[in-house]
Amino acid sequence: MLSYRHSFHAGNHADVVKHTVQSLIITSLKEKEKPFLYLDTHAGAGRYQLHSQHAERTGEYLEGIARIWQRDDLPEELRPYMQAVKAWNMGDQLRYYPGSPLIARHLLRAQDKISLTELHPSDYPLLRNEFLKDERARVQRADGYLQLKAQLPPQSRRGFVLIDPPYELKTDYQAVVSGIQEGYRRFSTGVYALWYPVVLRQQIKRMVRELEATGIRNMLKIELAVLPDSDRHGMTASGMIVINPPWKLEEQMKRVLPWLHRALVPDGKGHASVEWIVPE
Ligand SMILES: C[S@@+](CC[C@H](N)C(=O)[O-])C[C@H]1O[C@@H](n2cnc3c(N)ncnc32)[C@H](O)[C@@H]1O
Repeated sequence: MLSYRHSFHAGNHADVVKHTVQSLIITSLKEKEKPFLYLDTHAGAGRYQLHSQHAERTGEYLEGIARIWQRDDLPEELRPYMQAVKAWNMGDQLRYYPGSPLIARHLLRAQDKISLTELHPSDYPLLRNEFLKDERARVQRADGYLQLKAQLPPQSRRGFVLIDPPYELKTDYQAVVSGIQEGYRRFSTGVYALWYPVVLRQQIKRMVRELEATGIRNMLKIELAVLPDSDRHGMTASGMIVINPPWKLEEQMKRVLPWLHRALVPDGKGHASVEWIVPE
């Protein structure tokens, strides 16, 4: 079953938090000259038109990227992310939203490698076309979870793995845990970032318990909620669980997340939190 299309959700509050974390991790990894692999297991289409039927139908980006992209008081931590968003938009009009692969493409260097997998029959060709001329990139129509076995450890022994499934299958909540376990067994020094939605809080609590039970340490949880927990309102919050986060990430997110919460949720509902699931 592949009914999920990210084009309905691109640029929403969850993307803003996810891509802020992604861009800060990439920026930190670039502090060393040595190349690294960026592996995006669930890559999506790459670029999203915000005036398309899909995006206009939900209007989710209006309560996400549209609320911040022209602010002139952006915290320093949002700079790399916003540079990537602005690179895909000319002038004052917000027409396109770059997904995680295009944000990575904008921020990575000539020596780094990009590996992207996407299964959807409509989104895969769009993604492939975005990267036709990028010699750093390998784009495959393949199962993202399998890449955690097949592509790790990277040759360079440095890497950042983004795991961003749609959770349209209940099994995704377990698949992410076993996928991370597989990846970590092969490559324990990599940075792993797992995105999650809070639809039913119990599902996330269970997933976090299972992650703790793997024995993996150094796991940071970053979460932004736009509403209090509820089983009646769909996604009320989302977050990123980062394993082996760059040392600055906790501090950076503690500075920027309250700002994002104020900017994205003017009525102040929900919460912003940065906490360790397991310390180093
Ligand atoms: C949340 S979207 C990805 C968004 C993207 N990472 C971004 O931030 O721009 C999840 C994507 O995973 C794809 N997908 C679902 N199951 C998959 C699998 N097993 N392997 C690879 N891709 C999958 C879906 O088609 C969808 O495009």
